[in-house]
Amino acid sequence: MLEGPDFDRLWGIPGAGYAGKMLSMAAKKFGLKCKIFMGAKDIKRQRPNVEAIRKNGAEIVPVTTGSQTLVDAVSECMRYWVSNCDTTHMCVGSTVGPNIFIKICAWSTAQISRELILQVKEEFGKIPNKLKLINCVGGGSSAAGFWNEFMDTHAQFIGVEAGGPRNSKLHAAPLTNGSKIGILHGAAQYVIQDKEGQIGSTESISAGLDYPGISPLHCFLKDTKRARYTSASDEEALKAYKLVSKLENISPSLEPSHAFAEAIKLAPRLSSSEIIIVNSCGDSFKDKDIIKQKLGSYIR
Ligand SMILES: Cc1ncc(COP(=O)(O)O)c(C=O)c1O
Repeated sequence: MLEGPDFDRLWGIPGAGYAGKMLSMAAKKFGLKCKIFMGAKDIKRQRPNVEAIRKNGAEIVPVTTGSQTLVDAVSECMRYWVSNCDTTHMCVGSTVGPNIFIKICAWSTAQISRELILQVKEEFGKIPNKLKLINCVGGGSSAAGFWNEFMDTHAQFIGVEAGGPRNSKLHAAPLTNGSKIGILHGAAQYVIQDKEGQIGSTESISAGLDYPGISPLHCFLKDTKRARYTSASDEEALKAYKLVSKLENISPSLEPSHAFAEAIKLAPRLSSSEIIIVNSCGDSFKDKDIIKQKLGSYIR
């Protein structure tokens, strides 16, 4: 990826800032220039990751168009990249965009399930009959990675989208809320849109899930009924964050807190032979300002 004779720059796009943090670390290690395109709203609400990106020496390009979130950052980064593609490599931190970016991202994140399937077999001696794998879904990379090695097994997949604030019509849940197929960022997918096909607004407490589209991979899993998709509201995610932080000695970020919210809803209805595994795919530190503002204190 980094060896092309003319490559001296990497450009990337995070929502919550994790992909930017990792990309800036890679750029630092290999002595490459790095620009991170991030929505101005996300720069404000994900301050700890923004500081880490800057510490690694990368330049943050604030995107002030549209909703100033991930969707606008992806558009801006793509625009910039097509004008400079001889000397730069664009790195997309989710399974979105044109086909090759989805493949690169899904292959990389599949490492999660390569390790998980070994751990499950070691723990249970086999893949348990009623195994449920729950993951939050924004663009869909961590869910794709979490499920990949279980694709040909009987494990059930549950994807949890961002339902947005309880009393708002806005959300970031195209699969759960009946959105139609449209084109976004070079791929056909279910996407939040108006009657004319213009991309619609979204809202979520979680920067990483605040995206109007969804990977075509997940559209396929929904259409073939291989996975089930649902959503959790901002309030449910916050409540789940609070409970999990208190009881489990981990502190999930607001993205996986959506997945925990579904596990909390589902668990009381299951028998003791049914196993749930939730991917706690991010740490809450990046969300400490939001959590403090909403809950009055921050537990890590
Ligand atoms: C911790 C965390 N989880 C989940 C996501 C959502 O992305 P994806 O749906 O691609 O896994 C993000 C995106 O920034 C994230 O930071």
